[in-house]
Amino acid sequence: SLDPYHVSAELGFVLQAPQQELPEFYQPWMDIALRITDLVQSHMLRSRIDKMPLLSTEYLETHRDLRLAHLALSAMTMGYVWQEGEDGTIEMLPQNLAVPLWEVSQGSGLPPILTHADAVLANWRKKDPDGNLELLVTLPGGDSARGFFMVTLLVELAAVPALRSIPTVINGVRRGDGEAVAGALEVIQQSLQDMTHALKLMHVYVEPSIFYGIMRIYLSGWKDNPSMPKGLVYEGVQTEPMHYSGGSAAQSSLLHCFDQLLGVQHEATSGHFLHRMRDYMPPAHRRLIQDISREPSLREFVQGERASNARLSRAFTLCVAQLVALRSDHINMVSRFISIPAGRARQLRSRGRTAGETEAISMAPVALEERGTGGSGIMTFLKTVRDRTGDACLPGS
Ligand code: ALA
Repeated sequence: SLDPYHVSAELGFVLQAPQQELPEFYQPWMDIALRITDLVQSHMLRSRIDKMPLLSTEYLETHRDLRLAHLALSAMTMGYVWQEGEDGTIEMLPQNLAVPLWEVSQGSGLPPILTHADAVLANWRKKDPDGNLELLVTLPGGDSARGFFMVTLLVELAAVPALRSIPTVINGVRRGDGEAVAGALEVIQQSLQDMTHALKLMHVYVEPSIFYGIMRIYLSGWKDNPSMPKGLVYEGVQTEPMHYSGGSAAQSSLLHCFDQLLGVQHEATSGHFLHRMRDYMPPAHRRLIQDISREPSLREFVQGERASNARLSRAFTLCVAQLVALRSDHINMVSRFISIPAGRARQLRSRGRTAGETEAISMAPVALEERGTGGSGIMTFLKTVRDRTGDACLPGS
């Protein structure tokens, strides 16, 4: 069972029934966290946060309390840092935000910045009895921002059957049961395909110019980001600035698990980034990835059975191919949502912005044209990762 890893049979890595409210005492946080978009738009978020009381975190008792507090405080932090764009950043996060964010980060094992575990895994509730979902906290970008986080949540949910099959694969390899492993790999392949379909919904629910021009900056961090070269001082925590990466798909534990299971070997630079992103996951999820990597090699098992079990090697090959397809779709998505709008933004800049220019993409941060919000050199990184995934296929197939 995956329970010890905080992975549920119904929801996988998605947090079950996230807390929707904090104890009354924390109302000053939630009053701001639920209005980040408005307050950023009216340029009032910083002044509101500056006036907020410094609250003790001692009344946050459960893991779910801590996750909601981390979501609220880290989203407020993104708004605080980026409210005035890439040329109007700050050097210090005020202590009434920095200190509680630091404490709930220690308590939950997450870094003191908005992560995938916040904005996606712990950021949902059922809107009605039919089970339609909505977000708890959102960032600037309106429907596109909601669409971005919601589609990412759907990808996590589509992966649940695959996650459930991981122990079956591992036990099957241990027992030498090729049929059991083949069956489980077939489930994984189907689930990877469902993830690929879910990911494509990004094209339906997210507008590229809004994503590029409005949303992206609020997902970006203060490490490997030319507009925050010095990092950020967390007042009341430490006098030296600290550096934390912005949000990245690499913070989802899903593909880390499948890479380990299938034996994908990443190249040094991208492997280093991927590995570092494990520190941005809930600790129990990080442990699952590690434990999968310590198991006997599935790939070697499949190779050993190859002559006698065609179903097994076929299922393995299809899993690798589906993982490559998913990563190729992600690359196409980056072209449409980042590279093409970046080209348009450059064109607008070289033409000189006219007074009435209202195109959202002309507001995009220049520092992130070639980088992901996590700080990686985005296209090179994704292509290297995709190509290395393909290398995991069996020789000659
Ligand atoms: N990592 C995604 C980006 O770079 C969100 O925009």
